[in-house]
Amino acid sequence: MKYEDVEYNECDEVYPPAEDTFLLIDNLILDDSMEVLEIGGGSGLVSICASRFVKSVDVCDINPHAIKCMESNVKLNNRNNIAIIRSDLFENISSTYDLILFNTPYLPVDEDEHADDEYSKAWDGGRDGRTVIDRFLKEAKRYLNEGGIIQMVQSSLSDNDKTLSMLKEEGFEAEITAIEHVFFEDITLITARL
Ligand SMILES: C[S@@+](CC[C@H](N)C(=O)[O-])C[C@H]1O[C@@H](n2cnc3c(N)ncnc32)[C@H](O)[C@@H]1O
Repeated sequence: MKYEDVEYNECDEVYPPAEDTFLLIDNLILDDSMEVLEIGGGSGLVSICASRFVKSVDVCDINPHAIKCMESNVKLNNRNNIAIIRSDLFENISSTYDLILFNTPYLPVDEDEHADDEYSKAWDGGRDGRTVIDRFLKEAKRYLNEGGIIQMVQSSLSDNDKTLSMLKEEGFEAEITAIEHVFFEDITLITARL
């Protein structure tokens, strides 16, 4: 498969690039001096696209199948400025970055619908859709350089206003910078600047 001039393969047990992925890629704020971190890289498409325009990208995922998938897609595109790390959010991250990206698991999922497999971690945001989002927002600032930027994707189903107010409390200027209506929700891209 191809997006722009990047080739990629979808992989079993890994989130396939979808509308939310493309919303993020199409609205990235990039420059060639940037050191970038992507949380939850999935297939690696976002990181590979970004890597063409920045200094370096570190990308992590909690799903071991995603790690293998990213390794193979990075190789397919001969990218040599991407490092792949297995990590639950920032657990194994020790650097700071100019830009942090995250297409979050943002769907509200009731306890009785929760599946304990790697694949569903891609969208399962717990009962209010915010379990991973809230953890991310509490930690992200520590991994940003002065003047750093967060670009994250979530949905109207997982309380955009709460994300904006949490970011503002942490000292960011934050706004919704892109929206796409898909089926029963609006997918939103939130951009926050320190
Ligand atoms: C919606 S998918 C996005 C995948 C890819 N970035 C894209 O846009 O196509 C969310 C990704 O976050 C990963 N993820 C979920 N919880 C995570 C966590 N606590 N730490 C790291 N990655 C996580 C999932 O495994 C999945 O690959």
